[in-house]
Amino acid sequence: MPRLFKKIKEIRGFIRDLKCKGNSISVGFVPTMGYLHEGHLELMRRSKIQNEFTVVSIYVNPVQFGPGEDFRQYPRDLERDLALCEEVGVDAVFAPEDKEMYPEPPITKIEIPGLTDRLEGLHRPGHFNGVAIVVLKLFNIVQPDRAYFGEKDYQQLKVVERLVKDLSIPVEIVPVPTVREKDGLACSSRNVYLSPEERQSATAIYKSFLLAQKLFQSGNRDPEVIKDAIKDFLLKHPHVRKVDYVEITDDNLNPTDEVKEGDRILLALYVGNTRLIDNWRIGHEAI
Ligand code: PAJ
Repeated sequence: MPRLFKKIKEIRGFIRDLKCKGNSISVGFVPTMGYLHEGHLELMRRSKIQNEFTVVSIYVNPVQFGPGEDFRQYPRDLERDLALCEEVGVDAVFAPEDKEMYPEPPITKIEIPGLTDRLEGLHRPGHFNGVAIVVLKLFNIVQPDRAYFGEKDYQQLKVVERLVKDLSIPVEIVPVPTVREKDGLACSSRNVYLSPEERQSATAIYKSFLLAQKLFQSGNRDPEVIKDAIKDFLLKHPHVRKVDYVEITDDNLNPTDEVKEGDRILLALYVGNTRLIDNWRIGHEAI
């Protein structure tokens, strides 16, 4: 079993001792909200390959959820998560209580204009402030050499990369490609909310990326045309209730007038009552 830490002081002390003992021990860190799936496990495996010691955090961060969002329902199962961490060979798990992480509600605000206020940030005001706060806190607690983030949450990855750059945080951010189920649906802890029929409809997301890919390959370069085709396709499926956004940007999330290889399609939609996000790199090969 990985060593389980619940207190900031204890994991800090442990990592400090570890780094004092071994002169070149590198610490890899995988922040998660738990209810682990193959996507998370892939991040952990990458960390295991590149570092002598791997720490995973499991913490459903209240500060990144808005009012009316799924903070209370978010699936939690620490025993199951610990068993999965053990299978992958994770060395330590940090799973704090809310009062340990936030003895007082944080009032510091972190904004990156042009990055945290678009796409997810527009639809979930305050979300990236909450993500940035917890990620910075976790970096300060674990003090990792490398931290692993999934491309599944592409905007989050870009926000964290920018924070690290702007604030000279001594951690290398390692992006990891999205892990998908056999039928193309991106692995997500929230997929457990889907009924079997909704789960079937959710495959429309991946299919819409393949459709966009086809349009691009047949010479279409107009983002509006591709975006409309995706939206129309998605909304044809039962249970696809509402598309929050479909955007095409360059790989740094800047809007684009002419689609080119390497650009990203980003979308958010509701399947039943479940909000799902996904993204796709144009030119990416299908699974
Ligand atoms: P969570 O949704 O648990 O995701 C933890 C990490 O796993 C993130 O870096 C996410 O991008 C990655 N991930 C999720 N699904 C993936 C998939 N299908 N393929 C590859 N990587 C995947 O993202 C968060 O938690 C939180 O916002 C957090 C960063 C922990 C801050 O609270």
